Amino acid sequence: MTQDELKKAVGWAALDYVQPGTVVGVGTGSTAAHFIDALATMKHQIEGAVSSSEASTQKLKSLGIQVFDLNEIDSLSIYVDGADEINPQMQMIKGGGAALTREKIVAAVADTFICIADTSKEVDVLGHFPLPVEVIPMARSFVARELVKLGGLPEYRQKVVTDNGNIILDVHNLRILDPIALEKAINALPGVVTVGLFAARSADIALIGGPDGVRTIKK
Ligand code: A5P
Repeated sequence: MTQDELKKAVGWAALDYVQPGTVVGVGTGSTAAHFIDALATMKHQIEGAVSSSEASTQKLKSLGIQVFDLNEIDSLSIYVDGADEINPQMQMIKGGGAALTREKIVAAVADTFICIADTSKEVDVLGHFPLPVEVIPMARSFVARELVKLGGLPEYRQKVVTDNGNIILDVHNLRILDPIALEKAINALPGVVTVGLFAARSADIALIGGPDGVRTIKK
């Protein structure tokens, strides 16, 4: 099976968690795109979706799924999204697609975070994938210097502007042994909008696609 077929398998498997009559939280990226295709088959049964990026919003709308502003809704039962890395505690690195801030906001609202990923995303220790940090443009150099003090090697993601008008620093050279502490430390730097470490709010359910099928991990 190709990696894309594994992503498709978990995207469609997540459909089992969608309750008719609800608004569904939808993530960003190639795995989440498969979930959106699957969700379109239930578009007449759900109320609609809340999206974590302009790209996902466009895809949802093009398939006839109504997209709500997060401020219009009081609660979300599920949020379905991919990850760049996931550890055994179901903490994740996200933001390879630069949508980390909106992803974190929608994930924070949802009762249940369902991570959909293929086995290549599973790691024992987070940090091999460069950790994305969304930064206010004027703070780029300052935040980069502070990230070096924390042991990382930040790299400016060229030609990328987030949906919120900010820049991304990808932090290499990290071996994240205490994800909650690092998430707090990076979020506390002036100029940082969000770090793509999803540690304090980890996934509740992970659907992991491998050659033998989809494995479900629950907290
Ligand atoms: C988007 O900003 C990310 O958080 C994605 O969820 C993550 O990069 C996984 O992407 P793929 O599903 O494309 O691998």
